[in-house]
Amino acid sequence: MNKYACVLAMMAVGMLAACAMSPNNPSHAAAGATGPGDAIAPLSLVPAVARLDRHAGSFALREGTRIVAPAGDEGAHRVAQYLADRIKRSTGMQLTVADGGDAKGAIVLASDPAIEGEEAYALDVTSDGATIRASRSHGLFYGAITLWQALTAQPDSHAVPAMHVDDAPRFAWRGLMVDSARHFQTTDELRKIIDQMALLKLNTFHWHLTDDQAWRIEIKKYPDLTRIGGCRKALGPDAALVEEPGKPYCGVYTQDDVQGIVAYAAERYITVVPEIEMPGHAQAAIASYPQFGVTKKRPAVSTDWGVMPYLYSPSDKTFTFMENVLDEVMALFPSTYIHVGGDEAIKDQWQASKAVQAQMKQLGITNEEKLQGWFIARIGAYLDEHGRRLIGWDEILDGDVPASAAVMSWRGTKGAVIAANKGHDVVLAPAPDLYLDNVQSRLPDEVPGRMPVITLEALYHFEPVPSEISAENAKHVLGAEATIFAEQTPTAARVEHAAFPRLAALAERTWTNQADWQDFLARMPAQMARFKNDDIKAADTAFGVAFEATANGDKAMVKLSTQTGLGSIHYTIDGSTPVANSPAYTAPIDVPLPTTLMATAFIGEQALAQPRTQVVDAASLLRRDSTALELCTDSNGSRQEAALPVDGPRRTHFVDIMNTCWRWKGVDLTGVRHIAIEVDRLPWNFALAHEIKNVVTRPKHSKAGEVEVRLDSCEGEPAASLGLAAAHDGKATLTGDLQGEGTHDLCIVVTGKPGPTFWVLGNVQLQR
Ligand code: ACM
Repeated sequence: MNKYACVLAMMAVGMLAACAMSPNNPSHAAAGATGPGDAIAPLSLVPAVARLDRHAGSFALREGTRIVAPAGDEGAHRVAQYLADRIKRSTGMQLTVADGGDAKGAIVLASDPAIEGEEAYALDVTSDGATIRASRSHGLFYGAITLWQALTAQPDSHAVPAMHVDDAPRFAWRGLMVDSARHFQTTDELRKIIDQMALLKLNTFHWHLTDDQAWRIEIKKYPDLTRIGGCRKALGPDAALVEEPGKPYCGVYTQDDVQGIVAYAAERYITVVPEIEMPGHAQAAIASYPQFGVTKKRPAVSTDWGVMPYLYSPSDKTFTFMENVLDEVMALFPSTYIHVGGDEAIKDQWQASKAVQAQMKQLGITNEEKLQGWFIARIGAYLDEHGRRLIGWDEILDGDVPASAAVMSWRGTKGAVIAANKGHDVVLAPAPDLYLDNVQSRLPDEVPGRMPVITLEALYHFEPVPSEISAENAKHVLGAEATIFAEQTPTAARVEHAAFPRLAALAERTWTNQADWQDFLARMPAQMARFKNDDIKAADTAFGVAFEATANGDKAMVKLSTQTGLGSIHYTIDGSTPVANSPAYTAPIDVPLPTTLMATAFIGEQALAQPRTQVVDAASLLRRDSTALELCTDSNGSRQEAALPVDGPRRTHFVDIMNTCWRWKGVDLTGVRHIAIEVDRLPWNFALAHEIKNVVTRPKHSKAGEVEVRLDSCEGEPAASLGLAAAHDGKATLTGDLQGEGTHDLCIVVTGKPGPTFWVLGNVQLQR
């Protein structure tokens, strides 16, 4: 049992003192996992607080316990009501909000101008009551959340442990970006995410509202932006998201919806920063109003993912349009910052346009990158005039943006370094480190998404201030935010799966500079329970059991592990769901064939994840899912999903969309006679811009093409060639002979040229 399992398991049986004597006990009480000597139950505060002193005893809450807010202090009253609602939700107890009154036996919210910083607070809990002090209601709010977390650190607890907390954030910008363009989330779904952001003390919701695939925000002066730009053809997996086959995929936020979200977030001290993309990622806008595009031709709203050529024309007419749009946006969003995108605007259309070239000449602008700079600077000046500040992706550095403009660094951290050293404020949102649409594991049950894998631990190790930024310029780092680009998060459940629990790691790294992964990990079981109680579909990837089975004579040797090693693994081989007293896994297990293994990691009685199941039989030992194969290049690849079924998990395929070539390394072909390869056909709806020339095409030997298998090399005569004609409907299993002795690498390729669909592998089964 590891040290945290010890603390938690002993707690469960009332033997904490035994853990406290262990030399391995965590000593980092300040971060919030445990108290002095661990003789006190862990608090599991997330993010960890700046300073925590634990004391003996606790304050027991009961029905009717008062939450006292200063008379006439509206902000404090709102916080009091929020805390009462939270406690009701977690414990069922209804506390009473009181307008001033006796502090004894109450939770008191007090204004204290001596506490510096609007988000800072102090919390004192004794057996007689609790006091939260702050100079502003924002600080009171965070104090209330800390108190609620302390209350919910233990299941079914109705008492808040005695303690003193002094707390304030490290960074002013602690954010999450949600892309509502690639897939649409309802306002209720967004509210649920905003709730969790607040509980993690995040304060900035960056709302990606426009892109090539949709324009989501109602602009009264330009109704076609949402009437036309709010819908697109539902292609491939998206067909399952529309009510009837053939219907478009649509979603629009009315201005009332937007005001509702802004107000809801504000009540939780979250600023909503809208993003209106320009000059690229503009296809949906240009599909709605082609007169503001370069070619004046009307494209369809894009059904492709990637980089599209459509740019706004840099004409006065476009600026009038954009300023009118921004006027309505500024009226809806009180945020100081307005995000104008600026990323991935390939310049082909500007280069090809006589009018744009003539305009450049007239302006004395020598290249199209500088024209983008001029474009963004003009918008920046407009925002400045209106008392707002521009923020954009790091491409905005290509031009002379106003000194007040802030830069969001996504192409790694380079943009942040350049910008901060030039004196711009910066927000770190680098890919892939903070991209939550990147997958969390390579396991077969992992959802579709981008690669490489960004684990909970990798995210936790992200440091928001790049070392190349001088100490003097570090003040320009406003903070960091995680992003959820939504090409592969079509449903709210998938957005939640992408966001949580990894967002908790980002919350901690932006709130405190006391990074301690093991301490954070020890606080995760309580945090996962909080997510569950709020019906958040958090990913349990970091805690779920993975199986690795290898043939061992007429049996198999199976290794079990979890990504984080938290807790202890228990398993069954009789088909029953593992419980805490099922056999404990201590070393690889020898199992007869066939065996169905089920396994879960536990801390005490708490299962840390859904049980995982693995059937180990003769066939499975000779089978590889595409997700367990390697790619032929050093591309990261991605996990793409099948269109069906509409409900339930869809098949996921690991593939390099540029080169459909996989390797299964070190395969013992002794006795193998046949091969069966599961394939499916997916839309090849990737806009690769200038990268298109790098797509690998292989000669076909029949009209439908084939899947070819070679031994060791990917060149030369195939050892097996399976015609795709047999799979004309898409999903199919192709079979053929495969001969070979000894151990080989298999190279598996699909012939032909991808587009408008392409073939992907499901799994590869060898047969004796
Ligand atoms: C981005 O990922 N294009 C900001």
